[in-house]
Amino acid sequence: MKISEVQEKILKLKKEQDICILAHSYQSREIVEIADYTGDSFQLSLMAQKTPQKKVIMCGVRFMAETVKILSPEKTVILANPEAGCPMAEQMDKQMIESIKKDFPDYTVVAYINTTAELKTVCDVCVTSSSAVKIVNAIDNKNILFIPDCNLGDYVAKQVKDKNIKLLHGGCPIHAGISVKEAKDAKAKYPDALLLVHPECIPGVVAEADYVGSTSGIMDYASKSGAKEFIIGTEMSIAEHLQYAHPEKIFHILSKKLICVNMKLTSLMDVLNSLKGAGGEEINLDETTIRDARKCIDEMIRLG
Ligand code: 13P
Ligand code: SF4
Repeated sequence: MKISEVQEKILKLKKEQDICILAHSYQSREIVEIADYTGDSFQLSLMAQKTPQKKVIMCGVRFMAETVKILSPEKTVILANPEAGCPMAEQMDKQMIESIKKDFPDYTVVAYINTTAELKTVCDVCVTSSSAVKIVNAIDNKNILFIPDCNLGDYVAKQVKDKNIKLLHGGCPIHAGISVKEAKDAKAKYPDALLLVHPECIPGVVAEADYVGSTSGIMDYASKSGAKEFIIGTEMSIAEHLQYAHPEKIFHILSKKLICVNMKLTSLMDVLNSLKGAGGEEINLDETTIRDARKCIDEMIRLG
């Protein structure tokens, strides 16, 4: 079957069954094209709440599908490719954070949304890369334990100077794998380009950037900027989506290493099979996990 034929089948089945398809912006072009909503983690979590459909297919990684289920427990939530996980989300577990909390009882535990539902149950508030600074600022406690991404945490700590932010050693292997040398080399190779990076990159790379922001922050900045040339310091699909949206501008990838294999696992056929009930995995979380994890996501929405 051709890509366009699969897309047509998906659109037809989706309409007949009244199913919502959510896609993170790191998904491939052909998936973004058939999705009802595309966005960064924060936008998807809001969409998860608002969408009226009773069934949702998530094209992204497991923690994103879990977030949809936590916010809409009455909905059927399918992760289109069950193998798609986020290695950062699995770096820290509930037992580890519970034992660290004993040593820091007066700290508010802030969890990046890239964490498992189980881990969220022992955290106080979630953040996404686009909401982190605003939310940490709004927390009514000086002492913050920020998990798991020490690079995003460092970025937040530099913006929120009046808080005591404790970090643990976690992060995204894809973004954190980019070196300062690579950033400097890319700038030297494309001297007229602006460097836009995600705050999951290491502090030295962030320091080289002209703009730092979430995936949608980077896309908005590049779209609205009067500049013509950009180096994109996040998952390489963003450079591709931007190039389609703005053929008159030039987008370079910061590094060939910026490819998230987990985000790339989902194929159009996975989506089609999920619609047919012949693929994907239904996300099931027990009531207690949903209730406790939800407090931390609701707090993010309240403060954000
Ligand atoms: P955002 O979508 O919040 O920018 O996060 C990037 C990411 O790595 C998602 O897994
Ligand atoms: Fe996880 Fe990094 Fe992939 Fe995002 S890009 S899903 S944080 S591994």
